Amino acid sequence: MDVGVDDSLAILLALRSPELEILGITAVAGNAPLENTANNTLRVLEAAGRTDIPVARGAAKPLTREPEAALHVHGNDGLGGSSVPQPTQMTFDERPAVQFISDIVIAHEPGEITLIPTGPMTNVAHLMREAPDAFARLKDIVLMGGAFALTPYGHGNVTTVSEFNIWADPEAAAELVQADIPITAIGLDVTTDPSGSINSERHQGLGNSADPYAKLAAMISVQVLERFGVVNIHDAQAVAAVIDPSLFRTETYPIEIITQDGSVRGQTIVDRRPGSRRSSGPEITVATDVDGPRFLELLLGRLTQEA
Ligand code: RIB
Ligand code: CA
Repeated sequence: MDVGVDDSLAILLALRSPELEILGITAVAGNAPLENTANNTLRVLEAAGRTDIPVARGAAKPLTREPEAALHVHGNDGLGGSSVPQPTQMTFDERPAVQFISDIVIAHEPGEITLIPTGPMTNVAHLMREAPDAFARLKDIVLMGGAFALTPYGHGNVTTVSEFNIWADPEAAAELVQADIPITAIGLDVTTDPSGSINSERHQGLGNSADPYAKLAAMISVQVLERFGVVNIHDAQAVAAVIDPSLFRTETYPIEIITQDGSVRGQTIVDRRPGSRRSSGPEITVATDVDGPRFLELLLGRLTQEA
């Protein structure tokens, strides 16, 4: 995760979801430099009273490129300019992210663990390269990333065609889609659908709730709401897709990730031509629609349950 505003809401949703057991979180450079995204992960978990969740630090930069943060969206420290306290109890797991994930996966049966990447795919690419046996034991990957031009909202947010998580480290994403395990991408096509976004009315409902998680979510996201008029909770949709896949319609296609520079850097191209799946190349399952109201009911309902 590159905690981040919407990464934070994804954590809070996961913490309130009995369908999931969070075995750990690894931080990656993305929305903000690694020192911020890692520290923000501790800030959110401590504020949520969940110092039991282990956190490891991953890549401070993409596989081959220099890191380029998105502080204009996520605020100067990556946590929406909010006043969430600095961690006082939690420290990082001493293992680097790849060893941390590998140990957890090896300690479980094959096919038990789902990775939910919500930042650049750098840590996942390192896992593939450095711990292939552990990577092969994963059940699947459900990631937030990509813009597949499958809905009116399926354009990019960095360039006209590129979504940030893929754009930030396109080489990592290009390696990831070659994997033999199932990959589902929850892209901007659905995460920027207004029916599933937090507008000022819904944000007020969070802020007015007595539930501490709702208040935390409101505090972290208010600057984004003020700046952009809406809070697209991209990463929480990836978590929701694991909790209740029925929230999304999906299709599977051959995929190509563009790694060349310029306006196509990080473009995620799916081949929807009839018969395209007969090719032997990499495939990906992509979300083609979201039940926005039901997603919000899940998210907001679980963040305001202790009202
Ligand atoms: O493009 C949206 C994605 O980029 C989200 O994961 C957001 O947190 C940023 O990382
Ligand atoms: Ca993110």
